[in-house]
Amino acid sequence: MRMPLIAGNWKMNGSLALVEAFGRAFADGALPVNVEVALMVPFPFLEAAGRALGETSVTVGAQTLSDRPSGAFTGEVSAAMLRECGARLVLVGHSERRTLFGEDDAAVLARVKAALAERLTPVLCVGETLEEREAERTEAVVLGQVEAVFDALDESERARLEVAYEPVWAIGTGRTASPEQAQVVHAAIRGCLARYDQALAGGMRLLYGGSMKADNAAELLAQPDIDGGLVGGASLKVDDFLAICQSAG
Ligand code: 13P
Repeated sequence: MRMPLIAGNWKMNGSLALVEAFGRAFADGALPVNVEVALMVPFPFLEAAGRALGETSVTVGAQTLSDRPSGAFTGEVSAAMLRECGARLVLVGHSERRTLFGEDDAAVLARVKAALAERLTPVLCVGETLEEREAERTEAVVLGQVEAVFDALDESERARLEVAYEPVWAIGTGRTASPEQAQVVHAAIRGCLARYDQALAGGMRLLYGGSMKADNAAELLAQPDIDGGLVGGASLKVDDFLAICQSAG
């Protein structure tokens, strides 16, 4: 049985006050015990999030990292720094990083390796654009992104990732993939992972992201190959995020 994981991705949003509000709201056992919950906050909020959520079951994570361990890379943040500030997970290859910051598959792989080297859990994000979907290239694009990373890892490394399928056309648009559309791609990803190892495929959590909300989470999470969510906008409101976590329980 795969324990569901609901991860909030605040992107470049939020504040220290919001970190505190989440800490207060989740402190009293509000979260279901059979769901793992994570919040991926901006770098400056990592330590405060660790403190505010310290009494809860929520894991704190970051949204990207450098592929280098240290050095003259002004503005960059290393995996070791993230770990020292309390992050245990890190998003890698989010479509906003791929499209706005030019991270290609090689850059994504280098960041996955940097995260693994510091015992951070990389959440590998994959997904197709609308143009790619309309050209019926969804599977080729998504599995290509998965293989670009998994081909280059060894067996023990592969088992330490989480994978999030986020169709680019569903991110921040209010246009969610239907549960059936999402399930088809999740099943294809699991099939792809099975070519490396059946046990890997059976154990790997596959999260869906893209306009997941309190009112559509349950039907997405009911799909056999959807094991959680990567939630953007709805993770900025305590009540909405809590409702999504509860629908996974
Ligand atoms: P939205 O939930 O705002 O569509 O964002 C999804 C996302 O990109 C999470 O990483």
